[in-house]
Amino acid sequence: MQVNSKDIDFYNLGFGFIETNKMFISDYKNGNWDEGNLVPLGLIQLSPAASILNYGQGIFEGLKALRAKNGTITLFRPEENAKRFNRSAERLFMPRIDSKKFVDSIKKVVKANEEYIPPYESGGSLYIRPLMIGSGPILGIAPADEYKFIIFSSPVGPYFPEGFKAIDLEISTKYTRSSVGGTGFSKSCSNYAGTMMPAKEAKSRGFSQVLYLDSIHREYVNEVGAANFCAVMDNTLVTPELDGTILEGITLKSVLKLSEKKLNMRTEERKLSYKELFTDACTECFCTGTAAVITPIGSVQIEHSLKVFNKKLPGEITTKLYQLLTGIQRLEIKDDFNWIHEIS
Ligand SMILES: Cc1ncc(COP(=O)(O)O)c(C=O)c1O
Repeated sequence: MQVNSKDIDFYNLGFGFIETNKMFISDYKNGNWDEGNLVPLGLIQLSPAASILNYGQGIFEGLKALRAKNGTITLFRPEENAKRFNRSAERLFMPRIDSKKFVDSIKKVVKANEEYIPPYESGGSLYIRPLMIGSGPILGIAPADEYKFIIFSSPVGPYFPEGFKAIDLEISTKYTRSSVGGTGFSKSCSNYAGTMMPAKEAKSRGFSQVLYLDSIHREYVNEVGAANFCAVMDNTLVTPELDGTILEGITLKSVLKLSEKKLNMRTEERKLSYKELFTDACTECFCTGTAAVITPIGSVQIEHSLKVFNKKLPGEITTKLYQLLTGIQRLEIKDDFNWIHEIS
């Protein structure tokens, strides 16, 4: 049900779906995308034989529109979401979307739902979800011949309503999220269903999320739920190499740049054994993502071995990176890298 924006308590939002005014829909038929347009947010009709329903042929993206202190509405690097969307489309054998159309349509959705963007002081944002699904009917396993590109949005609260706090992770010895040659690097809908049970199990044991390892050696760090992983070791920022099993996070890419250019740190993208996290050299860990922003990691546990970082307080480098990233996103720190799109 659509909620009138005047009835929303923007200061107490979580991450639940709240319907906004408009969504964007474009249809792909006979080998071409139509122009697409904004329509009232509502239900979509699909054949029961649609390829998304039967074979999971679908991809998505996630980004946020923020309101800065002076009222300006900003997006963070949406052209990177466009590039990743097309990499995902290619892997899932789906049609590409022109990057300009992707970014322009996002801006139209934000403008049309402007009244749902939480105020600056609330720390919330308008979460934007571009989605492409195989809508054409198909019975044998093959790509659909019709697709829908949809963009909807929902106001969400800040990731840290009670302040910037560290989380505890359980390193899974049982589950993995992706494997070499698979779809781990893409934001395919089907990558996420399999992570729900592991997350629920870890939460039932008191952890915030699962830290996944690689599927072959069960040793190298992969990702944290829906976020990338970073470790600080001897003033070097180390993150697992993007070997096709890891989603190339836009926040991660930005954090690597900020570490090098603003904190004068070395960065390494390499295989990272979970055992390294248990050595004294590893002093801070955090995860990055559009939703997670930069989340400090207070501890990691694998079976009966536990490592606590910095007495579970956010580390110095983690905090500096968080302040830099959110400062740029909220127009409080100069955007030297041209990452911000302002929407007027
Ligand atoms: C599996 C996974 N890893 C990492 C990320 C972080 O990517 P980004 O920083 O682009 O949001 C996401 C999404 O947010 C994700 O779903």
